[in-house]
Amino acid sequence: MAKIGENFIYELKNLCDIVSIIASYVELKSVGKSRKCLCPFHSEKTASMVVYEDTQSFYCFGCGVGGDVITFIEKIENLNYVDSVKFLAHRVGLSIPDDDLDDQISKKRQRILAMNRLAARFFYNNLKSRAGRIGLEYFQNRGLFLETITKFGLGYADDSWDSLKNYLHANGFFFEEMYDADLVIKSTKGTYYDKFRNRVMFPIIDAKSDVVGFGGRVLDESKPKYLNTSDTLAFKKSLGLYGLNFAKNAGLERFILCEGYMDVISMYQNGFRGCVAALGTALTQAQVRLISRHVDDIVILFDSDEAGALAMDRAYKMFLEVGISPRALRLKGAKDPDEYVKKYGSARLKLAIDQSISAIKVKIENIASKYNLNDPEQKKRYINEYCHVVSDILDPLEREVYVGQLCQSLKVAREIINNHVNYLLQKKRKICQKRLDKEISRNIYTKRMHKNVCSKYEKAERGIIRFLYNNPDYFDYISSKIDDSWFSSKLNKKIYNIICDRIKSNFALDFLLFHEILTTDEMGVFSKIVNEGKDFANTTQEIDDYMRLIREKYEKEAENISAMTLEQIEVRRKKYASGKR
Ligand code: UTP
Ligand code: MN
Repeated sequence: MAKIGENFIYELKNLCDIVSIIASYVELKSVGKSRKCLCPFHSEKTASMVVYEDTQSFYCFGCGVGGDVITFIEKIENLNYVDSVKFLAHRVGLSIPDDDLDDQISKKRQRILAMNRLAARFFYNNLKSRAGRIGLEYFQNRGLFLETITKFGLGYADDSWDSLKNYLHANGFFFEEMYDADLVIKSTKGTYYDKFRNRVMFPIIDAKSDVVGFGGRVLDESKPKYLNTSDTLAFKKSLGLYGLNFAKNAGLERFILCEGYMDVISMYQNGFRGCVAALGTALTQAQVRLISRHVDDIVILFDSDEAGALAMDRAYKMFLEVGISPRALRLKGAKDPDEYVKKYGSARLKLAIDQSISAIKVKIENIASKYNLNDPEQKKRYINEYCHVVSDILDPLEREVYVGQLCQSLKVAREIINNHVNYLLQKKRKICQKRLDKEISRNIYTKRMHKNVCSKYEKAERGIIRFLYNNPDYFDYISSKIDDSWFSSKLNKKIYNIICDRIKSNFALDFLLFHEILTTDEMGVFSKIVNEGKDFANTTQEIDDYMRLIREKYEKEAENISAMTLEQIEVRRKKYASGKR
């Protein structure tokens, strides 16, 4: 068990009531004993997130996010576990003894960050070596100054299977740790080799100036063009932004959202300090929220190709969903900002950026150019498409402005357009609601009603966990009658064992204390188990039924296995080992 003071977590918990913490982010409505709100982790129009005061936890029936007050902070503030604890502690004025944070996870994370820092320096230093010359030449051919290369800590991973691995090893790191940092890959034989080979390297630096991961680009046209660090304890691709470390300290009121690493760097060299890019994935809702927390003037500046246009269409709507109306800039005469600034210079790019107009307007102008407004049929289609765009806008005032413009330019009665926009708004809400309802019923009801035998057992397993969690006095009773191999779900088994271990060691059973062992997603499931159907499985009679049920299933499977051939058993074993069940 981790050393992070459980006493401290207790103290923190007593001071951080989940209801008041969540209420400081979203508007909570009381429904009976529980409280509901619009889930801040996905966009929705009706409340599907429930906050439970008695278990100090939350769960969203729409998107499946759940957990305790720490999970909530992790998600909403984009912080890791330790930083969330710090954040909450700071908020309630608790100071954390440093030793308390020396928990395993944070230690592991620190080791990853230390490795990353070493690796970044290693890649950077390579540029000065003979083997790394080609890396330096690559950057110089792309017009980067030495100063820029140093500023962004760019580097080169040489064409070797083990140079970084050996370097880190000589610095006291184990292969397994390098693997956890996603710096090496494990072969099927169990040996390790460098992940990044013969690539120019872009370290990804977070807001605290830690190197959290890397992007590595090939020097030629081979594929894949970029290789990125997968998610690790220190890195969540979907949450971060490339360049944010510089952009947020530049003191600007406007950010420019680009597509790639090279755009951010080349723009920076040309004096544009507020540039950020997603990290090798499509833009995520979390990244949009992160940007919107820093500025509300955003220029989306993507590549000029078709893919860039599609990405733009998706991105601007994501900003609208968080209540921000971004600007959009489509460059002409160059494939991306990097090329544009080289061809036309930074003054012209600056002008284009300064004069860029709202993405909605750009969208509307595009539509107008598609139709001949003298033709009544085409005019109707134009109005319809126009109204569609307008109905994505959350702000009623902004909607009104665009409706007004359309009415004026086409001489159509305002009432008619307003009606149509309202109709589309309603329709979109309904679609949203339907999707949500579907998700909700999939999440909570189907599992129970489904005829699939598995869900019956899953329910029984969860019932046992819930009961034991709420009635630890029954530990002897349950553990004497049950074997953990009866659990068919790996996660249920894991949770059951954690609870048993804690009871055996006389540790308190508290939701918050499971954080050390369960991942954030697993905490979500656990939250659901603890909260779901608190009204049943309250008697030993029911628990006996549950235990009998899962034992029978186990025995039946064992029987089946005894009837299997050796080959069949082997196939099954492999399937089990690979986690596909
Ligand atoms: P681009 O292909 O536009 O690359 O992808 P780029 O950044 O402009 O690089 P250059 O100028 O061609 O060298 C945009 C972003 O998409 C991600 C990277 O984050 C890249 O910066 N990407 C692209 C990948 O993660 N993997 C790929 O194979 C390609
Ligand atoms: Mn590009």
